[in-house]
Amino acid sequence: MCGIVAYIGKREAYPVLINGLKMLEYRGYDSAGVAISNGDFHVYKKKGKVQELIKHVSGAKISGTIGIAHTRWATHGKPDDINAHPHVSGNGRLAIIHNGIIENYNVIKKALLEKGHTFKSQTDTEVLAHLIEEYYEKAGVSLEEAVRLALTKVTGAYAIVVMDSENNDKLVAARKGSPLVVGIGEDEFFCASDASPIIAYTKRVVYLNDEEVCMIPREGRISIKSIMANEEQTPLVQKVDLKIEELEKGDFEHYMLKEIYEQPKILIEAMRGRLNSNEGWIKLGGIDQVKKRMADADRFVIVACGTSWHSGLIAEYMFEELARTQVEVEYASEFRYRNPIITDRDVVIALSQSGETADTLAALEMAKKNGALLYGIVNVVGSSIARLTDAGSYIHAGPEIGVASTKAFTGQLAILAMMAIHLGYEKGTIPRSYYNQLVAELENIPSKVEKLLEADAQIKYIASEIKDANNALYLGRGYNFPVALEGALKLKEISYIHAEGYPAAEMKHGPIALIDENMPVVVIATNKSSYEKVVSNVQEVKARKGKVIAIVTEGDTAISEIADYTIEIPDTDEPLTPILSVIPLQLIRK
Ligand code: BG6
Repeated sequence: MCGIVAYIGKREAYPVLINGLKMLEYRGYDSAGVAISNGDFHVYKKKGKVQELIKHVSGAKISGTIGIAHTRWATHGKPDDINAHPHVSGNGRLAIIHNGIIENYNVIKKALLEKGHTFKSQTDTEVLAHLIEEYYEKAGVSLEEAVRLALTKVTGAYAIVVMDSENNDKLVAARKGSPLVVGIGEDEFFCASDASPIIAYTKRVVYLNDEEVCMIPREGRISIKSIMANEEQTPLVQKVDLKIEELEKGDFEHYMLKEIYEQPKILIEAMRGRLNSNEGWIKLGGIDQVKKRMADADRFVIVACGTSWHSGLIAEYMFEELARTQVEVEYASEFRYRNPIITDRDVVIALSQSGETADTLAALEMAKKNGALLYGIVNVVGSSIARLTDAGSYIHAGPEIGVASTKAFTGQLAILAMMAIHLGYEKGTIPRSYYNQLVAELENIPSKVEKLLEADAQIKYIASEIKDANNALYLGRGYNFPVALEGALKLKEISYIHAEGYPAAEMKHGPIALIDENMPVVVIATNKSSYEKVVSNVQEVKARKGKVIAIVTEGDTAISEIADYTIEIPDTDEPLTPILSVIPLQLIRK
């Protein structure tokens, strides 16, 4: 995760780039940098947030109408001034910003060292700058051709923008496995890792496809070529449907909190026009398009990463129970490197907020080659996964800027629930009465989430009681087991506290040894199947003096009597429980 922004046109580039970096800072904030040219070449880089870069630059005469800028989340080399981007080629002429990882950078670096190149940083990106320089100088080709030739030698993922300090009339951008969008203004162009830094200036954009290199001129039209085949591509200009207000944080402390609070609204959006309890129907356009193949499928294979993978695990319970469909849930990053058995009788479902996660995309490409039907449940309209899949359902959650996914997760769950209920009814694996009950209950879910958010102050208090713990355990069974995984992931990612999620019954096979008075144990103990067993698990934790924070159903007494803290969630049908039980876990924070 890093952020890219670049500009060429008639304006002063620096304010455009700095404003862009501020909008992208959520993508990485261990260092930031900017390169600008007006004949004189200025490169400023600083460890820390964008604000540190601004301080570093203040007072300097920085002027120019072409420039590139980057905010970094370190992959190769520690976060410091030297490893910050932009990186400059050996002869000091080219500057490059890069998102992604060049996997074979060591091999390339070795070859370049043998040719006499020397490197200042520990990054893979600097190696790429030197490789492009080799082609630019030695092959005597245009910058775009030098970039293309260099990229034919590279394995891994990248979104890059390159500028030549001695030719201020063009930028060159390229992507593979990491998104990049070019904004087309009046006599000016922008380029960024997502559209957010661009929409204040223009709504007309071209999303680069994988393995494309794009020449962005100061005047005239952009031109795009495929990297490997070296063929001219026609740019597809699209209108971004994104409002600047959607990108603002408002009065919230941070984006993630804003997005947690948006969940009642986005759940309504995810279900709008797709279900109606009065008339008793669920209608998903994506499924209608591929109805027969979906009905004939031998199994569903769900591929996803991170939080999206957790919604895949919950979907497994939903599809098995309601539609009696065989389901396998795969980490896309593992699946793509295995040799999995996929046939044209499989439906491969990709879950992704961004629609750009490189591993999920690669897993889909592999499944496509094997003839599987590809179905996407993604948030970002027009994203790579949305384009690659045969059919799908958008989440309609609006931009999710907080890196740790929240509203896209519950939105995914609403869609997966609608799919499972719909398919179950079509297959006759659930009766009409249960179908109607679930449809009606899904409509009630947004107001139940709204009510749950009122518990924020109580949850904050509980969080303050456990904030000094070094470790935490999250336990759940059935539908709530993946919720336990998700809760633990959030604590790690947001509060930097080590946490593990476990199926409650597995605790006795090892983790129980860790429980003492310093160990907070979050137990998701709603009143459905396995409730009694979870009560016993809570007893086991208490017997070892663990501190129990229990998520229970309203009116619960058995667990409330033994737990240290309880957070009540409204009652609902079991397959829909995760949409509610995850909310308090999202809100637990330091
Ligand atoms: C991670 C995020 O980097 O990417 C997670 O922290 C997210 O929250 C995961 O779930 C996968 O992203 P996506 O866009 O494919 O859902």
